[in-house]
Amino acid sequence: MTKPALTKETVVIAIDGPAASGKSTVARELAKRLGYRFLNSGDLYRAMTWSCLQSGIDCKDISAVATAAGNARIKVAHEGNEYYPKIDEDDARTHLRDPAVNANVSPVSAVPAVRYILSAAIRTHAQGRQTVIEGRDIGSAVFPETPYKFYIDAHPQVRQRRRRNQGQNEEIAQRDMIDSTRSTDPLTVAAGATVIDSSTLDVNGVVGAIMGQLCSQGLSAALLCSKE
Ligand code: CDP
Repeated sequence: MTKPALTKETVVIAIDGPAASGKSTVARELAKRLGYRFLNSGDLYRAMTWSCLQSGIDCKDISAVATAAGNARIKVAHEGNEYYPKIDEDDARTHLRDPAVNANVSPVSAVPAVRYILSAAIRTHAQGRQTVIEGRDIGSAVFPETPYKFYIDAHPQVRQRRRRNQGQNEEIAQRDMIDSTRSTDPLTVAAGATVIDSSTLDVNGVVGAIMGQLCSQGLSAALLCSKE
């Protein structure tokens, strides 16, 4: 993808990792402490999946999904500090964790046209802003140029337990497998990323480790280093 260069004032902190590794909670808290925006890129993939399901599209039909993505009008809207996707003006927020979306989001996300379109929307959203963005390929593919990359992992059993504690019965192993083995922008540790195993760390522990790393990289030293 030819990517328009990021402007000087743009800062992206990329937080990638597998399902239920704790990235959302950590990324949201980090954004709050830094006064940055927070964007969950998975919500865009989930909204696109919901939109396909609404239109009766077979999510395993690559060309039908690609056509739907090409025709969709995608927008990142906001309500206060909450950023969320709108597709064709539909607010999908209450449907993003529907079982049907859980079951179909990884196949939809593996379609190259979907990745191309949503990655471009995410870059446009970040341009000129300071944003913590979580996902699967944010550091490796969407913003390879950002120096601030983190990969949050946790033992598979810990992740499955976390998902159950959220009241969800989803088997996350299948989604992880599709996300890690797809040919376009698979889940991977980006070059230069700091890997944090959150199996035995709480949210404060992970956020503290990220802040420490950002501080050592010289990001907004006054803000970060005085607080920790
Ligand atoms: O369930 P969890 O919060 O861990 O996942 P999510 O962030 O909501 O992402 C849902 C799905 O969207 C992932 O399993 C991937 O298939 C896809 N996704 C992606 O392909 N690329 C991203 N940058 C973010 C999500």
